[in-house]
Amino acid sequence: MSAAPLVRADAVDRYVLSRGGVTLEVSAPASGIVRVRMGRGRLPEDASWAVPASVRRAGQPLQLRRSGARVELVSGSLTARVDTATLRVEVLDGNGQALFSDLSGRAALAGTRGFELRARLRGDDHVFGLGDKTGGLDRKGGSFVMWNSDAYKFTQATDPLYKSVPFFMAVSDAGKAWGLFLDNPWRTRMDFGRAERDTLSLGGEGGALDYYVVGGPTPKDVLRQYAQLTGAPPLMPLWSLGFQQSKWSYRTDAEVRAIAARLRSEQLPADVIYMDIDYQDRARPFTVNGAAFPDLPKLARDLREQGLRLVLITDPHIANAPGQGYAPYDTGMARDVFLRRPDGALYAGDVWPGSAVFPDFSREPVRRWWGDLYTGLTNAGVAGFWNDMNEPAIFNVPSKTMPLDVVHRIDSDDFAPRRASHAELHNVYGQLNSRATFEGLLRLQPDQRPFVLTRASYAGGQRYAATWTGDNVSSWQHLKMGVQQLLNLGLSGFAYAGNDVGGYAGETPSPELLTRWFQIGAFMPLFRSHAETHRADQEPWVGPAAHVAIRRHFIAERYRLLPYLYATAEENSRTGIPLLRPVFLNFPEVLAKGDRLGATEDQFMVGGDLLVAPSPTPESPGDYTVELPGPGWFDYWTGQRLDGAKVSITPRLESLPVFVRPGAIVTRQPLVQSTAFVPTGRLELHVYPGADCRGELYADDGVSLGYRRGEFLRQTVRCEQTAEGVRIRFEPREGSGTPWWSGLTLLVHGWSGGVPKAWAGMDSLPASLDADRGAVQVLLPDMRGGAVEIRR
Ligand code: GLC
Repeated sequence: MSAAPLVRADAVDRYVLSRGGVTLEVSAPASGIVRVRMGRGRLPEDASWAVPASVRRAGQPLQLRRSGARVELVSGSLTARVDTATLRVEVLDGNGQALFSDLSGRAALAGTRGFELRARLRGDDHVFGLGDKTGGLDRKGGSFVMWNSDAYKFTQATDPLYKSVPFFMAVSDAGKAWGLFLDNPWRTRMDFGRAERDTLSLGGEGGALDYYVVGGPTPKDVLRQYAQLTGAPPLMPLWSLGFQQSKWSYRTDAEVRAIAARLRSEQLPADVIYMDIDYQDRARPFTVNGAAFPDLPKLARDLREQGLRLVLITDPHIANAPGQGYAPYDTGMARDVFLRRPDGALYAGDVWPGSAVFPDFSREPVRRWWGDLYTGLTNAGVAGFWNDMNEPAIFNVPSKTMPLDVVHRIDSDDFAPRRASHAELHNVYGQLNSRATFEGLLRLQPDQRPFVLTRASYAGGQRYAATWTGDNVSSWQHLKMGVQQLLNLGLSGFAYAGNDVGGYAGETPSPELLTRWFQIGAFMPLFRSHAETHRADQEPWVGPAAHVAIRRHFIAERYRLLPYLYATAEENSRTGIPLLRPVFLNFPEVLAKGDRLGATEDQFMVGGDLLVAPSPTPESPGDYTVELPGPGWFDYWTGQRLDGAKVSITPRLESLPVFVRPGAIVTRQPLVQSTAFVPTGRLELHVYPGADCRGELYADDGVSLGYRRGEFLRQTVRCEQTAEGVRIRFEPREGSGTPWWSGLTLLVHGWSGGVPKAWAGMDSLPASLDADRGAVQVLLPDMRGGAVEIRR
């Protein structure tokens, strides 16, 4: 576009313009983020379930320039260009290149309600995000509906699913990224060039047209910006990164104890056992079947001694049980917390307990009431909670959820108190349910990090809960598809996510499928084995001994890697960059060379340094080639440096190819059977020399909020190649935390220089050469700072 002379430049907080009965507002909550709102007549209410008021209200000044029928608003490197006649908005990057070009302007509101907005989609853009929707990693060419749905046995073609995250990032082949978040919880639709080539369309059935464009320019920048808007997950308790064993259901105290005993006797490291609906009295939330679990506090205590914690399910449906002494119903009725029909009658729907009633989580007092329901279970020593069925799922009705005219009475945040239909609140029901749980647990145990697992959610829900992908199927296709779902969840803010290892429904997995799933699950952010009721067992010890040994090996490897995983989780809590990452997130340049996404679609990275490359055809494994982002990578298992960037793999059941970035410093710890047991001995630092060589040490107590008061230990370690060897530099430590390790074992991989001399002004450090692995090993004291150099 030509740069017409601009006549004026003013600083404004926001820009508002009305044309033809439509009002447009452009603002910038932060530099590099443009927010656009449009309403019929006047602007819609400025409120949100996803973006906190403090963020929405923190307007950055915009530089306003006018030129004829055009107004330009500059925020950081972004410029929003408004056509004052049509109210079309175009967002340009610092080079004047259009990222987002709205083609509709005020015509987006031409209907009587909702909106329909079309925009240009560049031909070479890939599209990611939208939570755990299936259909492949790249959303380009797809059309998706946001409507939280109980999707038992979903398939590659099922849409919508359990969560609604109307956020996506577009990334060009050149690795240039921008993102768009449509903050509208109603039923919405996003089409990425399916209905119309090179056209993006966003449609909504009600509510406001309110969206944010973030300018990247890298994919990681987009995620940081999205986290500025909707928040990053809080640092989860360390134990939630351990292995979690679940089943619908472990039905008795004795059965739970037997599972715990078997995990320990099989030497299968684990941190959590889940109890599904059958621990309850007639599937009534917040009850315990006293015949099956006569002493829950004792069970919790005994398990804790074995390093195991309990996570219990608490569904949102409260049994419709008047006059039966069921406290959640009685106290809820006394406080009028349940949803009602337009005529004022209580709404009841069938779920696990039979007829049930539903809290109106859009009211802050109701969320408090809900949070208080956890008092008994937290006092009993239950460590975490599982919020399921919160789409909400309703049985025996074709819609699988409650009628859309059920009335909510919003009383929350900066919303004006008002009545709203379930059509408006449906997609946030699960998010608000998990928020009520999270906030309640924080009130009950103010210095403990809450652990909540939710099935349904909405954008921003990552602030309250981890999630899983719901009722998947024990099939090879789901094993493969699950990785892509979890990658996209990570690109949508939900960094703590997993799927049911082994598959939840369908035929029981074969030993091969179960073993492969454990191998891949060991590298997922949440590692939880779970399966439907009335199926054969699928705990890790089920099946041939050779398989059990492989699963044990991978679970153990996860525990050894916990220092690295935890440091990545801590980074996530500050930046929003997920634990699980598609290759392009770390290496956007892989998109540049033709159809490189195709080659990396089944691969995933854990943090910045580990690349996992399962077979693209796990069901009939033939040889395959792994393309690494560049040369010089290392084999994680052998420590050996690889020759080129292509590796050909002949799959073997006992192995999963994992590669390490040259330049990585990966931390590992001695094996423990649970994060409750502090490792003894040394922290391992695996150094893989290369460019930008660095790693992070991070440790804290794993459970409390002490880290927010400085009770943590964080340290960057760097390496550089010198003429004679490698120098490792330990930067000064941050935080007041003390390490668990007595010293460090430094392993420098890719060493070819014979028996080394370690030198650090301390000339008698024990060093040894592992010629087979091409590694040199040096035992160091704990290093609070300083450097060592390993010389040939
Ligand atoms: C839902 C959940 C599943 C759980 C079952 C019983 O189907 O998705 O994980 O086991 O309900 O509570």
